[in-house]
Amino acid sequence: MEYFTLNNGQKMPALGLGTLRMFGQEAEQAVVTAVQNGYRHIDTASSYQNEKAVGRGIAKCGIPREELFITVKVWPSDYTRVRTAVAGSLRRLGIDYADLLLLHHPVGEVYTAWESFQELVDEGKARALGLSNFTKEQTAEFIRRFRIRPALLTVENHPYAPQNDLREYLRSEGIVLEAWYPLGHADHKLLEEPVILTLTEKYGKSAVQILLRWHIQIGNSVLPGSRNPEHIRENIDIFDFCLSDEDMQSIATLDTNTLYKVFTDEMRQRYLAWEPDWDDQE
Ligand SMILES: NC(=O)c1ccc[n+]([C@@H]2O[C@H](COP(=O)([O-])OP(=O)(O)OC[C@H]3O[C@@H](n4cnc5c(N)ncnc54)[C@H](OP(=O)(O)O)[C@@H]3O)[C@@H](O)[C@H]2O)c1
Repeated sequence: MEYFTLNNGQKMPALGLGTLRMFGQEAEQAVVTAVQNGYRHIDTASSYQNEKAVGRGIAKCGIPREELFITVKVWPSDYTRVRTAVAGSLRRLGIDYADLLLLHHPVGEVYTAWESFQELVDEGKARALGLSNFTKEQTAEFIRRFRIRPALLTVENHPYAPQNDLREYLRSEGIVLEAWYPLGHADHKLLEEPVILTLTEKYGKSAVQILLRWHIQIGNSVLPGSRNPEHIRENIDIFDFCLSDEDMQSIATLDTNTLYKVFTDEMRQRYLAWEPDWDDQE
């Protein structure tokens, strides 16, 4: 495993398990399988509505809590009641602090929420703070306004949209770029790009492993999501090879600045209005 040192000195495993769209027993088992195969970083969110199941996986995985890195996200409708929201997430996950606490989307009372985030760091309920789906300009505003800077920004990232300018800006500010949809949600077009298939033969690795290795080498943290035990094992088996500079360049030719998911203002207003009972889950 490789690690990032965040801007608060904390170590974060570069690769973690994504848990979006996994529920109940499936999410619980994915966490157990991942940790038993060497994962120490788990990404979850209140909006995934699986925190109880992920928490059962954490409790069962057999690794002490302090050896795990767990990310918690706060949904926009909770930005004016962050302390209650985070207390709920920690309770459902069965943990007493988050390694990384993120604002999930750039809509609503984001600065009020960050004030509460800072208090939670002071109280030991959160270690690092970060942003999800914010732009470069929005991130810069947090750097200007607050005593605790974002340690990480997570955005959609893969060879079709590597967002190199954003990564360079973040690097210059000591902020990690974390890739969600790192596999383009297992899009066949991406996994079967001729350049990727050529590299699978050259390195004796799967297309997914080539993509994950590319993320690590461009400096991304990466969160492949999987509920399949074989895939979970395969996805962490990427630290025993290195893509050459030439092969990194050939993957760079896939950049068309094309995202799979584009958030509109209308979507964000819906996110702000969405207030489910987060406890209503298995
Ligand atoms: N902050 C945000 O707004 C945000 C948004 C989206 C996602 N995320 C985070 O990022 C994580 C990753 O995103 P994602 O899960 O949507 O997309 P992804 O990781 O790009 O792709 C997941 C898909 O890839 C498949 N897959 C995984 N490993 C595979 C392998 N070795 N071979 C073949 N197929 C494989 C999975 O199926 P199987 O289950 O069958 O393996 C699943 O269908 C999420 O789980 C979540 O934690 C964050």
